[in-house]
Amino acid sequence: MLHGRQGSLHAPAYARPSSAPHRSGGHPSAPDAVTRSDAGATAEPGASLTPREASGPTSGFLPSLAPTDALPPALMPHVEACRSLAARYHHDGADVRPWLAQAFATWDPRGIEALAQASDIARDGAMSAVSMLAHAYRWGAMPAAPDAHALAAIELPAGLSAPLGWLAQRLGVPACGNLYHMLIANWRLPGCAPGSACAPATLRDGIERVTTMHSWLQGPMEEHLTATLRCLLLTEVAGAEMLPAVLRLGDAALRGDAGEAVALLHTLRAGVAEVSGVLGRYMRPQRIAPEAFLSVIQPHFGWGMAQDGVRLDGASGAQTATIQLLDAAFGVRRESAVGVMAMHARAYLPAAQRALLEAVDRRAPAVRSFVAETAGPEARELWNDCLASLHQWRRAHQKRGAMYLRTESASYHSVSGIVAKQDGPARAHAFERAMEEHVQETIEARLAVDVGAPTEDPRSRAAPSW
Ligand code: HEM
Repeated sequence: MLHGRQGSLHAPAYARPSSAPHRSGGHPSAPDAVTRSDAGATAEPGASLTPREASGPTSGFLPSLAPTDALPPALMPHVEACRSLAARYHHDGADVRPWLAQAFATWDPRGIEALAQASDIARDGAMSAVSMLAHAYRWGAMPAAPDAHALAAIELPAGLSAPLGWLAQRLGVPACGNLYHMLIANWRLPGCAPGSACAPATLRDGIERVTTMHSWLQGPMEEHLTATLRCLLLTEVAGAEMLPAVLRLGDAALRGDAGEAVALLHTLRAGVAEVSGVLGRYMRPQRIAPEAFLSVIQPHFGWGMAQDGVRLDGASGAQTATIQLLDAAFGVRRESAVGVMAMHARAYLPAAQRALLEAVDRRAPAVRSFVAETAGPEARELWNDCLASLHQWRRAHQKRGAMYLRTESASYHSVSGIVAKQDGPARAHAFERAMEEHVQETIEARLAVDVGAPTEDPRSRAAPSW
């Protein structure tokens, strides 16, 4: 399991996002470390992973057990409130603040003791429920009233702020929602009992039966939220299957084992193609309607208020751990505005996931050199095939994202600020332009197979068909 919090993988708290992982000159270098124990390892590009990092966890960046809402008694009012949230929050004229303020006016400090004794999966479940309600309180209604967007600060009721603050510190994430707790660890699958083992392959096989554990929407909009959830889960299922191959590729590079590197790159090629295919299948208006995504799905993820002088984002697509893994594994530069944003987004991943990605970053230069110089032409071809699929993912996300943002009937509130508040065509154009730089960084990570610099296939610039 990746999001456990023991040993050296547990970073203490938020507010130390790593800097972009490459220095100027195009040579990858180690990112700033999250923990002191990591800091020592950054000195050596090929440094070994800890045993826990190298074990190749089979659940990847997914929870290792099916998410649960069987929480300590102090947190059961939160679960109950989540059950009635959608009906109170998602309709015209809604305002959940008076209800939540009353329901969570007080907090018994003994609840913290119960959380301290709880299992990892129960703590994650608590963060899902508490952050869901905190975001509902922050927005008041979904869609939110215009004045909610202007809020610079908000005082949460004690029954939300106390557990949120404690959980955030314990889990090593900012004190607001994040993609992991609001979606990746917020689902139900009939046949997978909450708190029981649920392999990634089981999740994939049952994906059309997966629903949210806690939803904030009702009616047809909920179906679009469910499709968003399924898209992200399938992406992480592919990531769970690739993570052991990424870790073993690092080992193979250290040992100079070209045969194993080729075999692992075959696995990775299939995995990245799957990630690209998932986006192609789900990010379409029929499944995730632009009005739904822009008006009531993405806005609920946002936080956009400062705490201790730091503006907190909330959840965002840039927190998709598998995409983070691929950029790290293939040494994609992250110096563009979007690249820097993606590195910043890491602060919102559970601490152990963040530490693992940093370990992959540290090894990436050695792996790249091995594949480029020693592992042979087939390895280089496979490496480039992987990057071609990642490029395809980014190109589709860019073109389709722009199509979504052109929707005039919905406003958009960029988590990162990359897309300013503008009319549809202007914000779509700003998004496409910003994304283009990271698309180019992806292309630049390709290796020269024979003679000549890598070039982009011009066909991939065309807008994808629906
Ligand atoms: C459904 C419509 C979508 C729209 C309109 C959209 C829009 C955006 C925007 C505006 C950003 C810039 C950061 C921000 O302001 O929040 C972004 C970044 C990102 N989004 Fe999406 N997104 C969509 C769906 C998705 C999905 C389904 C995924 C994952 C499967 C995803 C993954 C990412 C990632 C990884 C980034 C960081 C940039 C990168 O690594 O290329 N997005 N998206």
